[in-house]
Amino acid sequence: MILIIYAHPYPQHSHANRKMLERATTLPDVEVRSLYELYPDFNIDIAAEQEAVSRADLIIWQHPMQWYSMPPLMKLWIDKVLSHGWAYGRGGTALHGKNVMWAVTTGGGEGHFELGDHPGFDILGQPLQATALYCGMKWLPSFAIHFTFVCDENTLDVQAELYKQRLADWQETNHG
Ligand SMILES: Cc1cc2nc3c(=O)[nH]c(=O)nc-3n(C[C@H](O)[C@H](O)[C@H](O)COP(=O)(O)O)c2cc1C
Repeated sequence: MILIIYAHPYPQHSHANRKMLERATTLPDVEVRSLYELYPDFNIDIAAEQEAVSRADLIIWQHPMQWYSMPPLMKLWIDKVLSHGWAYGRGGTALHGKNVMWAVTTGGGEGHFELGDHPGFDILGQPLQATALYCGMKWLPSFAIHFTFVCDENTLDVQAELYKQRLADWQETNHG
């Protein structure tokens, strides 16, 4: 099962992420947990989240980039759900061997992340990658849609289809 942990503060105003989800959910065995719709009060049901994660073979952290980082409910989800004794530490093996992918949309192009001394786009995924590796997960190449501020609908459709194809390829490779 592919589990998309989706953190968009205003899902009803999304263009890029909404198209990605529309395409991805045409595949079988894809579940979406839209955190801002499930938890508008930020009161995350940790047991429900851990139960969903336990059933997943591939977990996707999908969100729009906000100030070079993730929306706050995504961070809170990591803080609360990846708990000691479950995700790490003594007896914390629930995530071992699971795959994880970062799927992110950005308003700027890749050049936007190379301003001044900034070392570029890929390094922004490192906190998530380090978290995944610390919990014994396998980090897959990330998926990004850049330039969402200027992309027309057709370009977004093409990108969303590429996203779906990435997931379909993963399903075929991992489950025949
Ligand atoms: C508070 C806030 C901060 C943002 N910070 C960034 C940023 O640091 N870099 C960037 O490229 N885009 C930034 N954006 C633009 C969003 O990433 C962009 O609007 C989003 O990826 C579009 O996806 P959507 O159509 O699903 O909303 C920011 C947007 C908001 C609202």
